[in-house]
Amino acid sequence: NKIKIFSPATVANVSCGFDCLGFAVNDLGDTMSFTKTKEKGVKISKIIGANLPYESDKNAASAVALAMLEKHPADFGLEIEIHKGYAPGSGLGSSAASSAGAAFAVNELLGKPFSQLELTKFAMFGEQIACGSPIADNVAAAIYGGFILVQQYSPLNVIKIPVPSELMLVAIHPQVQVKTKDARDVLPEEIPLKDAVTQWANVGGLISGLYANNYETIANSLKDIIVEPARKHLIPHFDEVKQTALDYGALSAGISGSGPTIFALCKGKETAKKVHQQIDELYQKTGIDYTMVLSKIN
Ligand code: HSE
Repeated sequence: NKIKIFSPATVANVSCGFDCLGFAVNDLGDTMSFTKTKEKGVKISKIIGANLPYESDKNAASAVALAMLEKHPADFGLEIEIHKGYAPGSGLGSSAASSAGAAFAVNELLGKPFSQLELTKFAMFGEQIACGSPIADNVAAAIYGGFILVQQYSPLNVIKIPVPSELMLVAIHPQVQVKTKDARDVLPEEIPLKDAVTQWANVGGLISGLYANNYETIANSLKDIIVEPARKHLIPHFDEVKQTALDYGALSAGISGSGPTIFALCKGKETAKKVHQQIDELYQKTGIDYTMVLSKIN
């Protein structure tokens, strides 16, 4: 009658794959518990670690749960507790963790009537509630785990991509505010065909490298010539962090989702530790508060 789950943070876009690529972070996320109640309806009883709405129709987790119970009526209601493991507004899919966590847990309590694709759609509704647009890259990564490609939005198609076993994430979250909406407002409305070709060739290269365990192809493809140049000025010391990551052996670095978190992908734990340490040292000097993560991906 009660279920406790971990819902992972996620990195969306992954450089070249704006709005269509994402991966789940192993060691960072939210813990949520869901308790069946006799009384119908969905109530948020506790939120620890963030200032989020308690109203059932405004909180992403409860909004997802309500939508699922409407589609699949049950003879019980739900009480939800959310322990945020990291800050909202980080660019690590905080609302997606709540939405995807709710979709997964409610499905378990209902006896698993919904597929992963259907859960992704419910979780996208949570994204709509939390940030105004039903983007799937973060929620699909949280639901499926590992690396995912949102190949198509209408009808939704999510493809799970294998993750090379030595791939590690280093991320730094500078404590500055970047709203997804503002980060979308700075994007170009049109792009030259030549840039589009470069970008989609890199998406293909990245997918190929992930399937083939080819770190060289991955490193060579992890580039974003469209979104990163338009957004990087929103993130303090972005270029220096990226350069440091590359200097110390990262495959590449880029903006996580709409920022401000900067992510680097590395081959192996030793390289990841070195990159982590160097970025840490660099950022200490800036005087800006930050948190860092070093994690496996899956
Ligand atoms: N892909 C979105 C963006 C953020 O970069 O604006 C996460 O959904």
